[in-house]
Amino acid sequence: MSDEERYSLMQGIGWIGLPTWLPSPLPAIPKIGYYMGNTPPIPRLGVPPLKLHDAGNGFRNMPEPLGASGSTIMWPCSLAFGATWDTTLVKEVAGAIGREYRGKGANVILGPSVQVQRVARNGRNFEYMSGEDPYLGAKMSEAYVVGVQGEGVMACLKHFGFNEQETNRNFQSSVVDEKTAWELYYPPFEAGVAAGAASVMCSYNRVNGTHSCANEALLRRDLKQKMGFRGFVMTDWWALHHPADSSVVRGLDMEMPGAGGETYLYKGDLRTMEESQAGNFTGYGLGLEKSKLQREIYNDPAYRILSAAYKLHLFDLPSCTPGLDCVEPIFSNQRSLEAEKLAMRCASESVVLLKNEPRTGETKALPLLPSKVKKLALIGEAWVAPSRSTNELGMMGDYYSGGGSGHCYIPPELFTLPIVSMYERANSLGIDISSALTNNITDAMNGIKDADAIVVLAATTAEESRDRASLHLDNGADDLIFELAKQEKPVIVLTQVPGTILLPWKDNVDAIALMFLGGEFTGHAWASIIFGDVSPSAKLPIMLPKNESYTVQPSEEFDIFYNEGLYTSYRSTSASEAATYPFGHGLSYTEFQYATPALQDQDCESLLCVQVLVKNVGGRSGAEVVQGYLEFPPEADEPKLILRGFQKTRVLEPGSSEQISFKFTERDFSVYLNGWRLQSRATLHIGSSSADLRQSIELVLPQ
Ligand code: BGC
Repeated sequence: MSDEERYSLMQGIGWIGLPTWLPSPLPAIPKIGYYMGNTPPIPRLGVPPLKLHDAGNGFRNMPEPLGASGSTIMWPCSLAFGATWDTTLVKEVAGAIGREYRGKGANVILGPSVQVQRVARNGRNFEYMSGEDPYLGAKMSEAYVVGVQGEGVMACLKHFGFNEQETNRNFQSSVVDEKTAWELYYPPFEAGVAAGAASVMCSYNRVNGTHSCANEALLRRDLKQKMGFRGFVMTDWWALHHPADSSVVRGLDMEMPGAGGETYLYKGDLRTMEESQAGNFTGYGLGLEKSKLQREIYNDPAYRILSAAYKLHLFDLPSCTPGLDCVEPIFSNQRSLEAEKLAMRCASESVVLLKNEPRTGETKALPLLPSKVKKLALIGEAWVAPSRSTNELGMMGDYYSGGGSGHCYIPPELFTLPIVSMYERANSLGIDISSALTNNITDAMNGIKDADAIVVLAATTAEESRDRASLHLDNGADDLIFELAKQEKPVIVLTQVPGTILLPWKDNVDAIALMFLGGEFTGHAWASIIFGDVSPSAKLPIMLPKNESYTVQPSEEFDIFYNEGLYTSYRSTSASEAATYPFGHGLSYTEFQYATPALQDQDCESLLCVQVLVKNVGGRSGAEVVQGYLEFPPEADEPKLILRGFQKTRVLEPGSSEQISFKFTERDFSVYLNGWRLQSRATLHIGSSSADLRQSIELVLPQ
């Protein structure tokens, strides 16, 4: 490989979109027939082009002329994947998304986004599959990477690291200590690395003073040396602010998109660096003195990029070339019935039932059964909210998909409004519907006359590059709900949200369910849950706080100190007082009983295994997510509870049970203090949420 060829792997050749706000185009800035990120092929050596496209929750559709929107599925957002707590499902979903990408000619997916959430108002939380927990994130990350890469599409773990807010994201510096980094924010990245992720995206922000993409401690030391990452690091789009001699040598491998903004890794600059043996770096883990730059460091990016392509068999798979023959695949229809069914299932299984407790009487409001409800009132403008892409890049969010690079879009003619799905299902059950599709209180009151029950749909959204202004639902929905709740009929509130919300009216209503932006099958998912076709089984991957003062706010400061350390969400000492609904919470239409747990001696194949029998003791079928929280002795100086195990049962019929087995590894039984330290004892609390712990067992490691 010549130097020129090698350099060509290290910088993108422009990108699909050319927003009007960018300065006038460089000569070869492409539009049609390109992806979000593109590297050129090296035909002489059979090296395929890399074609990178957003994002982890589905192909970023572009209205024509950029791409054929509607030819892939608008999947639920990644946070909704997290809410299923179902690694098998997430692996299947990632596989289906991978097949769509392959059909579209793309071979690198710019996802999954696995950051652990810190700031409740972060505009991108809907993209972050990990929710607020590193263990949940690690399991999701692993499942996703295996699923998508099994289809020959490289995964890209993003955004590394500590990019937990959008406010001043290009400037601010996250100041994080080692323990907090390794225990709370790194595990989903580490798990993705261990699962073989081909690439990692360094983030826009600074970390401990230096921009991520030129941060040697982050990239060379922690990611490549300590985590053992063997794939390549690409920049976020225009996230590089350092020349090659202080970025490539510090662990960066590829600059994206390589045109149209601040750009550094031009071939001439790479050549100059190499010829002058330049390098402004420390050399963590390379056994090199600063003065002894070796060819190896300069060659490292090409080794990494080519090995990743080789490992995923990209040399053998047919591949179109951007700007040459990718228009056809980009415009091809990649939807399948099978994938649609999977997206429906994923949306339904991401619905979290927060409350189902009648204000009066014994009868629960949900599910709505034709024997009890003859006429249903559907209230709220969200029932008819369009799926929209208000500009060519989909930067605005809607109630089905958040805005920005994680936005999925299908055109209105393909989209089924939630109200339509509700009508269809209600009709088939012989339930009449009246509606007031507005948040206006007076009009809404007219819509509820003679209804036996009221279902309000309320929503809010979020988007990349800015944080949410508040945690409230849109357009006066809170006032509307308070007013409707004065009625003496069951009031059910459904919410479609991009992350945390406040529920000030929660004691005034009979049932509440929440869906994180659920994609094109949102209406189907609501109908299947509220009419009882499926019993809800999702759990909150975040805590819903009583008010905003219990959350970490986006900071306007240059330095953002992660002073709270591990003590966010359910790990906080004020968690029980702070939560309206705790982390891990989610009800079912049935009830589960947890038997006394016991150590499992046989077939453990792990450090320590614990079994617990979970039985469906209610009247309907349903699945339960069984959660295991470790409590280490006070000397360990850890939060009281740490999630270190979970498992979702199969759908259990009434009376049937399943033996759940928690298999703890050494890592699960360790805490971080200048390295992972294996603990000798802990109490395992097993339960249905972080605040509903049903059983405990003392665990002592054999000496
Ligand atoms: C986002 C990335 C995305 C990239 C390419 C950036 O603005 O932060 O997540 O992959 O754009 O669209």
